[in-house]
Amino acid sequence: MSFSFGTNIRMTVFGGSHTAGIGCVLDGIPAGTAIDLDEVRRFMARRAPGGSATSTARSEADEFELLSGIQDGHATGGAIAAVIRNTNTRSQDYSGYLETPRPGHSDLAAILKYGEYHDIRGGGHFSGRLTAPLCFAGGLCLQLLQARGVKFAAHILSLGGVTDKPFDPLAPSDADAILTNALPVILPEAAAKMTEKILAAKADGDSLGGVIECAVTGLPAGVGEPMYDSVESVIAHAVFSVPAVKGLEFGAGFAAAGMRGSENNDSLFFDENGKLGAKTNNAGGILGGITTGMPVIFRAAVKPTPSVAVPQETVNMKTNTNTQITVGGRHDPSILPRAVPAITAAAAVAIADLMAAGRFL
Ligand SMILES: Cc1cc2nc3c(=O)[nH]c(=O)nc-3n(C[C@H](O)[C@H](O)[C@H](O)COP(=O)(O)O)c2cc1C
Repeated sequence: MSFSFGTNIRMTVFGGSHTAGIGCVLDGIPAGTAIDLDEVRRFMARRAPGGSATSTARSEADEFELLSGIQDGHATGGAIAAVIRNTNTRSQDYSGYLETPRPGHSDLAAILKYGEYHDIRGGGHFSGRLTAPLCFAGGLCLQLLQARGVKFAAHILSLGGVTDKPFDPLAPSDADAILTNALPVILPEAAAKMTEKILAAKADGDSLGGVIECAVTGLPAGVGEPMYDSVESVIAHAVFSVPAVKGLEFGAGFAAAGMRGSENNDSLFFDENGKLGAKTNNAGGILGGITTGMPVIFRAAVKPTPSVAVPQETVNMKTNTNTQITVGGRHDPSILPRAVPAITAAAAVAIADLMAAGRFL
């Protein structure tokens, strides 16, 4: 079990859904890095639960208490630590799942691994709530990277059969539009249709999954430490640690498998100013595990929320009998809107760590 990620910039998260609090220690942010804590709060608010009908009814402000590492708007060079108190918990909703695990959630695996010691309340340390401290760390790394010209944008690319406008892989430029819609998407009409789909699934007591697309621009060439700390490997390590992420592709990704080499290869050229470029970006800005200077593009598949109110088959682990379960409590009818900042945060911490390894910071 590891709650820590990274080598040169190291993030540790702790806590569980219904523990007294959750939090984060972030080590390696260079002294003097300017940090706007209100900006971190705004970023975290995009993930916080209870903001709308498409999110869980559990309402948490996700207000953090900074313990150390930032003074007068700058990193001190010491470990940055913050706690977020859990205030809106209803642990009684969960007591039965140690006996009758929810299909699709972590309950079964956790019971098999930890036995009766597993903290089942709210999913314990498997809860999506642990992405709040991740977003705290990510919010800091986003500012560290932004000061070096590296910017992130992410949106729901598809959900319930509705597709948003994909990023232009050569020049993703829709970051501002994403922040203006009710859901994190580029096209307002996609936001409206996705909202309808989520509310329809919710009315059925069911849930929806989808795909999140993320673009990182302004990255210098040369970031990435092959073999095992290639850019894909490190982003995958961080992004697959976000609960409910089940697939990941970079650039053309799985579509590249169906192309000829001559189609998939990105043709190179020097422009009239002698600047190196590529005509396409099927590589997603990464060759040999190293950034080329083109935008890094990846897409993450996020499964539908496992806790659904539709009756499902499960087992009783005490009586060794088959049974049925209808999951109550407060759950996101789709994880996608809140996973957008979580996946952005994971990628930001990963890239900050890689840039520190390559002495770009
Ligand atoms: C932001 C976020 C919110 C989530 N909300 C819920 C939820 O309300 N109900 C639920 O059953 N799962 C929720 N999940 C997903 C579970 O945490 C996850 O499916 C579970 O821990 C099992 O992990 P796995 O899906 O990676 O195998 C959420 C995940 C994230 C990232």
